[in-house]
Amino acid sequence: MENPPQQLRIDGARLWRSLMEMAEIGATPAGGCNRQALTDEDRKGRDLFVRWCREIGCEIRVDRMGNIFARRAGTDNNLPAIITGSHLDTQPTGGKFDGVYGVLAGLEVLRTLVDNGVQTKAPLEVVVWTNEEGARFSPAMVGSGVWAGEFSLEYGHSRMDKSGITIGQELERIGYLGDEAVQPTPIKAAFEAHIEQGPILEKQDQVIGVVTGVQGIRWYDVIFFGTPCHAGPTPMEDRRDPVQAMAWLCEKLYGEVRAYSEDARITCGDLRASPGSRNTVPEKVVLALDLRHPTPEGLEHLHRTLYRVAKQVQEACGVAVDIREEWFSPPVAFDSGCIEAVDSAVQSLGYSHRKMVSGAGHDSVYVSRVAPVSMIFVPCAGGLSHNEAESAEPGHLEAGCNVLLHSMLNSAELG
Ligand code: GLV
Ligand code: MN
Ligand code: MN
Repeated sequence: MENPPQQLRIDGARLWRSLMEMAEIGATPAGGCNRQALTDEDRKGRDLFVRWCREIGCEIRVDRMGNIFARRAGTDNNLPAIITGSHLDTQPTGGKFDGVYGVLAGLEVLRTLVDNGVQTKAPLEVVVWTNEEGARFSPAMVGSGVWAGEFSLEYGHSRMDKSGITIGQELERIGYLGDEAVQPTPIKAAFEAHIEQGPILEKQDQVIGVVTGVQGIRWYDVIFFGTPCHAGPTPMEDRRDPVQAMAWLCEKLYGEVRAYSEDARITCGDLRASPGSRNTVPEKVVLALDLRHPTPEGLEHLHRTLYRVAKQVQEACGVAVDIREEWFSPPVAFDSGCIEAVDSAVQSLGYSHRKMVSGAGHDSVYVSRVAPVSMIFVPCAGGLSHNEAESAEPGHLEAGCNVLLHSMLNSAELG
Protein backbone atom coordinates (compact mmCIF):
# COMPACT_ATOMS: atom_id res chain seq x y z
CA MET A 1 0.00 0.00 0.00
CA GLU A 2 1.54 3.34 -1.09
CA ASN A 3 -0.17 5.62 1.46
CA PRO A 4 -1.48 4.99 4.96
CA PRO A 5 -5.25 5.18 4.52
CA GLN A 6 -5.78 8.14 6.86
CA GLN A 7 -3.55 10.21 4.58
CA LEU A 8 -5.35 9.20 1.41
CA ARG A 9 -6.80 12.10 -0.60
CA ILE A 10 -8.84 12.08 -3.76
CA ASP A 11 -7.60 13.76 -6.95
CA GLY A 12 -9.58 17.01 -7.11
CA ALA A 13 -8.36 17.91 -10.61
CA ARG A 14 -9.48 14.54 -11.99
CA LEU A 15 -12.89 14.91 -10.29
CA TRP A 16 -13.30 18.36 -11.86
CA ARG A 17 -12.28 17.07 -15.34
CA SER A 18 -14.84 14.26 -15.07
CA LEU A 19 -17.57 16.72 -14.04
CA MET A 20 -16.75 18.95 -17.00
CA GLU A 21 -16.66 16.00 -19.42
CA MET A 22 -20.06 14.77 -18.21
CA ALA A 23 -21.40 18.34 -18.51
CA GLU A 24 -20.67 18.30 -22.25
CA ILE A 25 -23.49 15.79 -22.64
CA GLY A 26 -26.67 17.84 -22.95
CA ALA A 27 -24.74 21.11 -22.55
CA THR A 28 -26.93 24.21 -22.98
CA PRO A 29 -25.80 27.49 -24.57
CA ALA A 30 -26.20 29.23 -21.18
CA GLY A 31 -23.63 26.90 -19.59
CA GLY A 32 -25.95 24.40 -17.93
CA CYS A 33 -27.20 20.93 -18.79
CA ASN A 34 -30.38 19.48 -20.21
CA ARG A 35 -30.01 15.75 -19.68
CA GLN A 36 -33.52 14.82 -18.68
CA ALA A 37 -34.28 11.29 -17.52
CA LEU A 38 -34.11 8.54 -20.14
CA THR A 39 -33.46 10.84 -23.10
CA ASP A 40 -30.63 10.14 -25.55
CA GLU A 41 -28.49 12.52 -23.50
CA ASP A 42 -29.19 10.55 -20.32
CA ARG A 43 -28.19 7.38 -22.21
CA LYS A 44 -24.90 8.99 -23.27
CA GLY A 45 -24.20 10.12 -19.68
CA ARG A 46 -24.94 6.61 -18.39
CA ASP A 47 -22.71 5.04 -21.07
CA LEU A 48 -19.83 7.34 -20.10
CA PHE A 49 -20.23 6.48 -16.41
CA VAL A 50 -20.34 2.74 -17.17
CA ARG A 51 -17.21 3.00 -19.36
CA TRP A 52 -15.31 4.86 -16.63
CA CYS A 53 -16.33 2.26 -14.03
CA ARG A 54 -15.34 -0.67 -16.26
CA GLU A 55 -11.95 0.94 -16.85
CA ILE A 56 -11.17 0.54 -13.14
CA GLY A 57 -12.44 -3.03 -12.99
CA CYS A 58 -15.93 -2.52 -11.57
CA GLU A 59 -18.68 -5.01 -12.23
CA ILE A 60 -21.85 -3.35 -13.58
CA ARG A 61 -25.42 -4.40 -12.80
CA VAL A 62 -28.53 -2.67 -14.17
CA ASP A 63 -31.93 -3.37 -12.65
CA ARG A 64 -35.37 -3.26 -14.26
CA MET A 65 -35.79 0.40 -13.26
CA GLY A 66 -32.54 1.30 -15.02
CA ASN A 67 -30.68 1.90 -11.74
CA ILE A 68 -26.97 1.24 -12.36
CA PHE A 69 -24.74 -0.35 -9.70
CA ALA A 70 -20.97 -0.26 -10.21
CA ARG A 71 -19.29 -2.59 -7.71
CA ARG A 72 -15.69 -2.77 -6.59
CA ALA A 73 -15.20 -6.13 -4.93
CA GLY A 74 -13.96 -6.33 -1.36
CA THR A 75 -11.81 -9.07 0.15
CA ASP A 76 -14.96 -10.55 1.72
CA ASN A 77 -17.86 -10.18 -0.68
CA ASN A 78 -20.24 -11.82 1.74
CA LEU A 79 -20.10 -8.64 3.78
CA PRO A 80 -22.84 -6.05 3.19
CA ALA A 81 -21.71 -3.31 0.77
CA ILE A 82 -20.98 0.34 1.45
CA ILE A 83 -22.81 2.31 -1.23
CA THR A 84 -22.76 5.85 -2.54
CA GLY A 85 -24.18 7.63 -5.58
CA SER A 86 -26.86 9.99 -6.79
CA HIS A 87 -28.34 10.82 -10.21
CA LEU A 88 -27.20 11.86 -13.70
CA ASP A 89 -30.55 13.21 -14.92
CA THR A 90 -31.06 16.97 -14.81
CA GLN A 91 -33.78 19.57 -14.85
CA PRO A 92 -34.63 20.98 -18.34
CA THR A 93 -32.50 24.03 -17.47
CA GLY A 94 -30.30 22.28 -14.94
CA GLY A 95 -26.70 22.75 -13.87
CA LYS A 96 -23.52 20.71 -14.04
CA PHE A 97 -23.44 19.56 -10.40
CA ASP A 98 -26.88 18.60 -9.03
CA GLY A 99 -26.70 14.81 -8.72
CA VAL A 100 -23.74 14.44 -11.05
CA TYR A 101 -21.36 15.46 -8.29
CA GLY A 102 -22.58 12.61 -6.05
CA VAL A 103 -22.12 10.04 -8.81
CA LEU A 104 -18.69 11.24 -9.93
CA ALA A 105 -17.47 11.79 -6.35
CA GLY A 106 -18.28 8.09 -5.82
CA LEU A 107 -16.33 7.18 -8.94
CA GLU A 108 -13.42 9.37 -7.77
CA VAL A 109 -13.37 7.50 -4.43
CA LEU A 110 -13.05 4.19 -6.27
CA ARG A 111 -10.38 5.56 -8.62
CA THR A 112 -8.40 6.79 -5.60
CA LEU A 113 -8.56 3.39 -3.92
CA VAL A 114 -7.48 1.65 -7.13
CA ASP A 115 -4.58 4.07 -7.70
CA ASN A 116 -3.34 3.63 -4.16
CA GLY A 117 -3.83 -0.11 -4.03
CA VAL A 118 -6.22 0.17 -1.10
CA GLN A 119 -8.44 -2.86 -0.67
CA THR A 120 -11.51 -2.83 1.56
CA LYS A 121 -13.02 -5.86 3.25
CA ALA A 122 -16.58 -4.96 2.27
CA PRO A 123 -17.48 -4.36 -1.40
CA LEU A 124 -18.12 -0.75 -2.44
CA GLU A 125 -20.78 0.36 -4.92
CA VAL A 126 -21.53 3.57 -6.80
CA VAL A 127 -25.17 3.85 -7.83
CA VAL A 128 -26.87 5.95 -10.52
CA TRP A 129 -30.55 6.22 -9.63
CA THR A 130 -33.13 6.65 -12.42
CA ASN A 131 -35.26 9.81 -12.67
CA GLU A 132 -34.34 11.54 -9.44
CA GLU A 133 -35.44 14.94 -10.70
CA GLY A 134 -39.08 14.20 -11.39
CA ALA A 135 -38.89 16.84 -14.13
CA ARG A 136 -39.73 14.65 -17.11
CA PHE A 137 -41.55 11.91 -15.19
CA SER A 138 -43.36 12.51 -11.89
CA PRO A 139 -42.69 11.70 -9.09
CA ALA A 140 -39.08 12.46 -8.22
CA MET A 141 -36.73 9.75 -6.88
CA VAL A 142 -38.76 7.05 -8.56
CA GLY A 143 -35.82 4.71 -9.32
CA SER A 144 -34.68 4.60 -5.71
CA GLY A 145 -38.34 4.57 -4.61
CA VAL A 146 -39.12 1.34 -6.50
CA TRP A 147 -35.84 -0.19 -5.31
CA ALA A 148 -36.68 0.61 -1.67
CA GLY A 149 -40.23 -0.77 -1.98
CA GLU A 150 -42.09 2.57 -1.81
CA PHE A 151 -43.54 2.07 -5.33
CA SER A 152 -44.27 -1.06 -7.36
CA LEU A 153 -42.27 -1.78 -10.51
CA GLU A 154 -45.49 -1.45 -12.54
CA TYR A 155 -46.05 2.02 -11.11
CA GLY A 156 -42.45 2.97 -11.90
CA HIS A 157 -42.65 1.72 -15.48
CA SER A 158 -46.01 3.39 -16.08
CA ARG A 159 -44.91 6.97 -15.23
CA MET A 160 -45.62 9.11 -18.28
CA ASP A 161 -44.04 12.27 -19.63
CA LYS A 162 -46.13 15.10 -21.13
CA SER A 163 -46.19 13.42 -24.52
CA GLY A 164 -47.49 10.11 -23.13
CA ILE A 165 -44.20 8.16 -23.28
CA THR A 166 -43.58 5.93 -20.27
CA ILE A 167 -40.48 5.17 -18.23
CA GLY A 168 -40.76 1.50 -19.24
CA GLN A 169 -40.76 2.39 -22.95
CA GLU A 170 -37.83 4.76 -22.60
CA LEU A 171 -35.76 2.32 -20.54
CA GLU A 172 -36.18 -0.22 -23.32
CA ARG A 173 -35.45 2.31 -26.08
CA ILE A 174 -32.19 3.57 -24.55
CA GLY A 175 -31.01 0.07 -23.56
CA TYR A 176 -31.23 0.46 -19.79
CA LEU A 177 -34.08 -1.92 -18.98
CA GLY A 178 -31.74 -4.18 -17.05
CA ASP A 179 -32.49 -7.72 -15.96
CA GLU A 180 -31.70 -7.45 -12.23
CA ALA A 181 -34.60 -7.49 -9.79
CA VAL A 182 -35.34 -4.03 -8.36
CA GLN A 183 -34.62 -4.73 -4.72
CA PRO A 184 -31.97 -3.93 -2.13
CA THR A 185 -28.95 -6.17 -1.67
CA PRO A 186 -27.39 -6.18 1.83
CA ILE A 187 -25.99 -2.72 2.68
CA LYS A 188 -24.00 -1.72 5.74
CA ALA A 189 -23.99 2.03 5.13
CA ALA A 190 -24.84 4.54 2.39
CA PHE A 191 -23.53 8.07 1.76
CA GLU A 192 -24.49 10.65 -0.84
CA ALA A 193 -22.43 13.73 -1.66
CA HIS A 194 -24.36 16.67 -3.14
CA ILE A 195 -24.18 20.42 -3.57
CA GLU A 196 -26.30 22.12 -0.91
CA GLN A 197 -28.65 23.79 -3.44
CA GLY A 198 -29.28 26.53 -0.88
CA PRO A 199 -27.32 29.45 0.60
CA ILE A 200 -26.51 28.39 4.18
CA LEU A 201 -22.96 27.01 3.85
CA GLU A 202 -21.84 29.84 1.61
CA LYS A 203 -23.33 32.51 3.88
CA GLN A 204 -21.73 30.98 6.94
CA ASP A 205 -18.43 30.38 5.15
CA GLN A 206 -18.42 26.67 5.90
CA VAL A 207 -17.12 23.93 3.62
CA ILE A 208 -19.10 20.86 4.62
CA GLY A 209 -22.72 20.25 5.61
CA VAL A 210 -23.18 17.09 7.66
CA VAL A 211 -26.74 16.26 6.66
CA THR A 212 -28.98 14.92 9.39
CA GLY A 213 -32.18 14.54 7.36
CA VAL A 214 -34.42 15.81 4.57
CA GLN A 215 -37.52 17.94 4.84
CA GLY A 216 -40.94 16.62 3.82
CA ILE A 217 -42.38 17.21 0.36
CA ARG A 218 -45.92 16.91 -1.04
CA TRP A 219 -46.77 17.23 -4.73
CA TYR A 220 -50.23 17.94 -6.14
CA ASP A 221 -51.88 18.62 -9.46
CA VAL A 222 -54.52 21.25 -8.70
CA ILE A 223 -57.03 21.24 -11.55
CA PHE A 224 -59.41 24.14 -12.24
CA PHE A 225 -62.37 23.42 -14.54
CA GLY A 226 -63.88 26.43 -16.33
CA THR A 227 -66.12 27.01 -19.35
CA PRO A 228 -64.32 27.75 -22.60
CA CYS A 229 -65.67 30.82 -24.33
CA HIS A 230 -64.69 33.65 -26.64
CA ALA A 231 -62.18 36.24 -25.38
CA GLY A 232 -64.07 39.15 -26.96
CA PRO A 233 -67.89 38.98 -26.82
CA THR A 234 -68.26 37.15 -23.48
CA PRO A 235 -68.87 39.68 -20.64
CA MET A 236 -66.49 39.24 -17.72
CA GLU A 237 -69.31 38.53 -15.27
CA ASP A 238 -70.58 35.67 -17.45
CA ARG A 239 -67.33 33.74 -17.42
CA ARG A 240 -66.17 30.75 -15.42
CA ASP A 241 -62.48 31.39 -15.87
CA PRO A 242 -60.10 28.77 -14.43
CA VAL A 243 -57.12 31.15 -14.74
CA GLN A 244 -58.73 33.70 -12.47
CA ALA A 245 -59.58 30.97 -9.96
CA MET A 246 -55.99 29.75 -10.09
CA ALA A 247 -54.69 33.29 -9.51
CA TRP A 248 -56.96 33.68 -6.47
CA LEU A 249 -55.85 30.36 -5.05
CA CYS A 250 -52.18 31.23 -5.55
CA GLU A 251 -52.50 34.63 -3.94
CA LYS A 252 -54.25 33.25 -0.88
CA LEU A 253 -52.10 30.13 -0.53
CA TYR A 254 -48.75 31.90 -0.97
CA GLY A 255 -49.85 34.40 1.69
CA GLU A 256 -50.88 31.70 4.17
CA VAL A 257 -47.77 29.58 3.61
CA ARG A 258 -45.45 32.55 4.11
CA ALA A 259 -47.34 33.68 7.21
CA TYR A 260 -47.23 30.17 8.72
CA SER A 261 -43.47 29.74 9.06
CA GLU A 262 -40.22 30.84 7.46
CA ASP A 263 -39.40 27.14 7.02
CA ALA A 264 -42.46 26.53 4.82
CA ARG A 265 -42.07 26.44 1.03
CA ILE A 266 -44.55 26.71 -1.84
CA THR A 267 -43.66 26.40 -5.53
CA CYS A 268 -45.82 26.26 -8.65
CA GLY A 269 -43.29 25.16 -11.25
CA ASP A 270 -45.62 24.25 -14.10
CA LEU A 271 -48.93 25.74 -15.29
CA ARG A 272 -50.83 24.22 -18.18
CA ALA A 273 -53.93 25.81 -19.71
CA SER A 274 -55.92 23.86 -22.24
CA PRO A 275 -56.79 24.03 -25.03
CA GLY A 276 -54.07 26.69 -24.83
CA SER A 277 -55.23 29.45 -27.15
CA ARG A 278 -54.75 33.15 -26.40
CA ASN A 279 -58.29 34.17 -27.36
CA THR A 280 -60.22 31.37 -25.65
CA VAL A 281 -60.96 31.25 -21.91
CA PRO A 282 -59.41 27.87 -21.02
CA GLU A 283 -61.52 24.85 -20.22
CA LYS A 284 -58.96 23.61 -17.75
CA VAL A 285 -55.83 24.73 -15.93
CA VAL A 286 -53.49 22.28 -14.23
CA LEU A 287 -51.21 23.75 -11.59
CA ALA A 288 -48.24 21.58 -10.54
CA LEU A 289 -47.79 22.43 -6.86
CA ASP A 290 -44.89 21.56 -4.51
CA LEU A 291 -45.25 22.13 -0.72
CA ARG A 292 -42.41 21.50 1.74
CA HIS A 293 -41.77 21.67 5.47
CA PRO A 294 -39.14 20.06 7.73
CA THR A 295 -41.65 18.71 10.29
CA PRO A 296 -44.56 16.27 9.82
CA GLU A 297 -46.92 18.68 11.65
CA GLY A 298 -45.84 21.60 9.48
CA LEU A 299 -46.34 19.67 6.26
CA GLU A 300 -49.73 18.43 7.45
CA HIS A 301 -50.70 22.04 8.21
CA LEU A 302 -49.76 23.14 4.67
CA HIS A 303 -51.70 20.19 3.25
CA ARG A 304 -54.85 21.15 5.16
CA THR A 305 -54.42 24.81 4.22
CA LEU A 306 -54.39 23.86 0.54
CA TYR A 307 -57.71 21.98 0.84
CA ARG A 308 -59.32 24.82 2.80
CA VAL A 309 -58.21 27.51 0.35
CA ALA A 310 -59.25 25.40 -2.66
CA LYS A 311 -62.75 25.06 -1.18
CA GLN A 312 -62.99 28.82 -0.61
CA VAL A 313 -61.88 29.55 -4.19
CA GLN A 314 -64.32 27.02 -5.62
CA GLU A 315 -67.21 28.65 -3.76
CA ALA A 316 -66.14 32.21 -4.61
CA CYS A 317 -65.44 31.63 -8.33
CA GLY A 318 -67.93 28.94 -9.30
CA VAL A 319 -65.04 27.01 -10.82
CA ALA A 320 -64.63 23.38 -9.79
CA VAL A 321 -61.25 22.72 -8.18
CA ASP A 322 -59.96 19.17 -8.03
CA ILE A 323 -56.83 18.25 -6.07
CA ARG A 324 -54.88 15.16 -7.19
CA GLU A 325 -52.24 14.06 -4.74
CA GLU A 326 -49.22 13.18 -6.81
CA TRP A 327 -46.48 12.38 -4.28
CA PHE A 328 -45.82 12.44 -0.55
CA SER A 329 -42.29 12.18 0.82
CA PRO A 330 -42.43 12.63 4.61
CA PRO A 331 -39.55 14.28 6.51
CA VAL A 332 -36.67 11.86 7.08
CA ALA A 333 -34.06 11.65 9.84
CA PHE A 334 -30.82 9.98 8.78
CA ASP A 335 -28.99 7.27 10.70
CA SER A 336 -26.95 8.43 13.71
CA GLY A 337 -24.09 6.00 12.93
CA CYS A 338 -23.73 7.31 9.36
CA ILE A 339 -23.97 10.93 10.54
CA GLU A 340 -21.21 10.08 13.02
CA ALA A 341 -19.09 8.47 10.25
CA VAL A 342 -19.34 11.69 8.20
CA ASP A 343 -18.75 13.87 11.25
CA SER A 344 -15.61 12.03 12.26
CA ALA A 345 -14.31 12.10 8.65
CA VAL A 346 -14.83 15.90 8.56
CA GLN A 347 -13.15 16.35 11.96
CA SER A 348 -10.09 14.35 10.97
CA LEU A 349 -9.80 16.23 7.66
CA GLY A 350 -10.15 19.55 9.49
CA TYR A 351 -12.80 21.19 7.27
CA SER A 352 -15.18 23.79 8.68
CA HIS A 353 -18.64 22.31 8.94
CA ARG A 354 -22.12 22.39 10.40
CA LYS A 355 -25.05 20.01 10.73
CA MET A 356 -28.03 20.75 8.52
CA VAL A 357 -31.33 19.44 7.14
CA SER A 358 -31.69 19.20 3.35
CA GLY A 359 -34.30 21.38 1.70
CA ALA A 360 -34.12 19.35 -1.50
CA GLY A 361 -35.27 15.77 -2.00
CA HIS A 362 -32.61 13.12 -2.65
CA ASP A 363 -32.45 9.40 -3.42
CA SER A 364 -31.04 8.99 0.09
CA VAL A 365 -34.60 9.53 1.36
CA TYR A 366 -35.69 6.19 -0.11
CA VAL A 367 -32.35 4.48 0.50
CA SER A 368 -32.85 5.35 4.18
CA ARG A 369 -35.95 3.10 4.25
CA VAL A 370 -33.75 0.03 3.86
CA ALA A 371 -30.22 1.01 4.95
CA PRO A 372 -28.37 3.39 7.28
CA VAL A 373 -27.72 6.63 5.38
CA SER A 374 -26.37 10.13 5.63
CA MET A 375 -25.30 12.85 3.21
CA ILE A 376 -22.45 15.29 2.69
CA PHE A 377 -23.15 18.81 1.37
CA VAL A 378 -20.76 21.32 -0.17
CA PRO A 379 -21.59 24.97 -0.92
CA CYS A 380 -22.79 26.18 -4.32
CA ALA A 381 -22.47 29.74 -5.59
CA GLY A 382 -25.26 31.99 -4.34
CA GLY A 383 -27.13 28.88 -3.20
CA LEU A 384 -28.38 28.60 -6.78
CA SER A 385 -29.54 25.26 -8.20
CA HIS A 386 -32.07 24.03 -10.78
CA ASN A 387 -30.51 26.80 -12.85
CA GLU A 388 -28.00 26.69 -15.71
CA ALA A 389 -25.75 29.07 -13.76
CA GLU A 390 -25.39 26.55 -10.90
CA SER A 391 -21.73 26.49 -9.89
CA ALA A 392 -19.41 25.20 -7.17
CA GLU A 393 -15.79 25.74 -6.16
CA PRO A 394 -13.41 22.96 -7.23
CA GLY A 395 -11.80 23.09 -3.76
CA HIS A 396 -15.17 22.55 -2.06
CA LEU A 397 -16.04 19.67 -4.37
CA GLU A 398 -12.66 18.12 -3.59
CA ALA A 399 -13.21 18.55 0.16
CA GLY A 400 -16.66 16.90 -0.01
CA CYS A 401 -15.19 14.00 -1.97
CA ASN A 402 -12.43 13.53 0.63
CA VAL A 403 -15.14 13.41 3.29
CA LEU A 404 -16.99 10.82 1.22
CA LEU A 405 -13.80 8.75 0.84
CA HIS A 406 -13.14 8.69 4.58
CA SER A 407 -16.79 8.17 5.54
CA MET A 408 -16.80 5.10 3.30
CA LEU A 409 -13.45 3.87 4.62
CA ASN A 410 -14.65 4.38 8.21
CA SER A 411 -17.51 2.01 7.42
CA ALA A 412 -15.82 -0.50 5.12
CA GLU A 413 -12.69 -1.55 7.07
CA LEU A 414 -9.53 -2.28 5.21
CA GLY A 415 -8.97 -5.70 3.77
C1 GLV B 1 -35.25 17.39 -6.20
O1 GLV B 1 -34.58 17.95 -7.05
C2 GLV B 1 -36.23 18.10 -5.41
O2 GLV B 1 -37.29 18.43 -5.96
O3 GLV B 1 -35.95 18.43 -4.25
MN1 MN C 1 -30.07 16.20 -6.90
MN1 MN D 1 -32.44 18.46 -8.63
